[in-house]
Amino acid sequence: MKNGPIGIFDSGVGGLTVFREIRRLFPYEDIVYFGDTARLPYGTKSPETIVRFALKNINFLKNHDVKVIVIACNTASAVLLNLKKKFRIPVINVIEPGARQALLFSRNKKIGVIGTESTIQSRAYEKALRRYNPSAKIFTRACPLFVPLIEEDWVKKPETKFIVKRYLSALKATGIDALILGCTHYPLLKPLIQKEIGREVKLIDSAREVAKELDEVLKTKRLPLKEKGLPRDRFFVSDLPPKFRKIGERFLGRKLGKIQLHRL
Ligand code: DGL
Repeated sequence: MKNGPIGIFDSGVGGLTVFREIRRLFPYEDIVYFGDTARLPYGTKSPETIVRFALKNINFLKNHDVKVIVIACNTASAVLLNLKKKFRIPVINVIEPGARQALLFSRNKKIGVIGTESTIQSRAYEKALRRYNPSAKIFTRACPLFVPLIEEDWVKKPETKFIVKRYLSALKATGIDALILGCTHYPLLKPLIQKEIGREVKLIDSAREVAKELDEVLKTKRLPLKEKGLPRDRFFVSDLPPKFRKIGERFLGRKLGKIQLHRL
C-alpha cells in the first residue's frame, strides 16, 4: 500500500486539538486537515445532514490518498457510529477513546458529558460508556453556544464566562468526578470549564486518546509509517481561510502556512 498521509476532518478549528496530539505522536507523518467552515456548526443539524457532510469530507480526504481518516469531530463521529457504516480505509472516531479514558479516570463512575445538541441527542457517549461499564451513571448537557463562541474567538469575553456557568451549573450538582469534553472545540474553553466545574473533576479531552488509537490502528492494520524526513501539513477549509488561520494559529501557537480554500 502507498504511504499516504493521515486525513483529519472537523467542521472547523476544533479538530486542531486532535491534529496537535497526532502531530506530537507522529512527528514525520504527512497530514491533510479539512475544516468544513462553510457548513459549521454541525452540532445543530440533523443526523441526515451531518452524515451527508461527513461523507463528502471523507471522499475529499480519500482523493488525497490518505491511508487512514480521523474524524476529529464528536458530532460527525456520533452520527456515523450510529450508522455503523463501513469504509474501505480505517476511519477512527473520537467517541470510544474518550469514553474509555473517562472510565479509567473516574473513581465514582459518575461521568458528565457535554457536547453539541446532535452529539448529546445521538446518545453515542452513553452507549459507549455503558458498553464498557453498564453501571456507570451518566449526566449529559448540550452546550450549543460554545462552538460559535470559540469560532468567534470570544473565549476571553465575560459573556462566555457567564454562559459556561449557566450550562454547567446543573452538572456541578450531580457529583460527577469526570467530565467528557464531547466536542473537539471545547478544549479551547478548558480553563473556564475547569474553573466552573471544580478542580476535583477530571476533564477528559479525547484528543490524546485518539492519537493513541491511531497508533494502534496503524500497527494492527500494518499500514506503512513515515519515520523520517520533513512532515508535510496541508490545511483546507470550505470557507474563510483567514478566520481559520487567526484562531488556528493562536491555538496551535505556530504558523499554519498555506490554507487552501476548497468549496465542497
Ligand atoms: N468540533 C465538533 C464536535 O466535536 C463540531 C462542532 C460543530 O460544528 O457544531 O462536535
